[in-house]
Amino acid sequence: MPKSRKRKVPITSTGSTYDASSKPESGRTVIRRFHVLLKLQAQLQKAIVYDPSKKAELVNVENELEELGGLKNYQRMSAIGQGTDRGGGSEKMLIRWLKDKELHKTEKKLRLLEVGALKPDNYASCSSWIEGTPMDLNSRHPSIIEQDFLLLDQEQNREKWDIISLSLVLNFVPEPPDRGRMLCLAYDFLVGGGHLFVALPLPCLSNSRYLNFDLFIELMGFLGFTELQRHWREGGKMIYILFIKKNGAAPPRKKLNPVPEKFTKKTVLRQGNRNNFSITVCTPCDNIKTL
Ligand SMILES: C[S@@+](CC[C@H](N)C(=O)[O-])C[C@H]1O[C@@H](n2cnc3c(N)ncnc32)[C@H](O)[C@@H]1O
Repeated sequence: MPKSRKRKVPITSTGSTYDASSKPESGRTVIRRFHVLLKLQAQLQKAIVYDPSKKAELVNVENELEELGGLKNYQRMSAIGQGTDRGGGSEKMLIRWLKDKELHKTEKKLRLLEVGALKPDNYASCSSWIEGTPMDLNSRHPSIIEQDFLLLDQEQNREKWDIISLSLVLNFVPEPPDRGRMLCLAYDFLVGGGHLFVALPLPCLSNSRYLNFDLFIELMGFLGFTELQRHWREGGKMIYILFIKKNGAAPPRKKLNPVPEKFTKKTVLRQGNRNNFSITVCTPCDNIKTL
């Protein structure tokens, strides 16, 4: 079971000192800056172990994160982006795909772990066939479990979930190896034949220096996932992909040692004005107990 579970009151106002309007542009600016700062924070936290002079830089980054209103304000901006006035949340896509596969007709309710849940009731309309468990680093509602997915108990969660949703979560995780670890854990936590739903900002795959569609799908195959559905459009903002955990034989990641370099190291695939999004896996996915 999750390690910590705090009682929360639902958030009705931000409580943030940051005076951002809820216009899409200002929201996106905060979100982008937040991601940059999170990444810097993670890098500096590692660097000060060897170079204590970086402490001042870290303090500056943390101060700026606070000025932006911290995780709470980031979540508020993301929740606005998820609002129906801008096309609604990605859960709609997942629900549609599951229904297309007639999974709403299964006898037992599907246990869905929604990582990075801003709202407690995204799957309320499917309560007759989905048993949703919303979880977030910072819970905005008593029904959302406050928990870092990366710190979930591995034994207790092994093959526990039918569906895991990582909607706009991988791109939030600051370090590429932690993104890889998140995917490895998702594999271990799913039942055989379980589904993993990934939503990412499209540029993570369409305009990254280090990652493209093909390499991402290859990496997912290495981890044990097969792609079932994909939705994105030219000029769009998001990509949605549904994967299934292959049943039966152990995936290549549990057999191949060393892990092929293309999955462990960032390699430049495209030159020019690109972003640096990447996902790497460690050898052999450190901190993950193999079956
Ligand atoms: C951009 S919001 C995504 C919200 C929503 N899922 C959506 O699609 O709009 C990212 C959320 O993921 C949460 N998150 C990031 N890393 C996490 C982790 N390791 N465990 C749990 N939640 C995490 C953040 O706290 C944040 O609320």
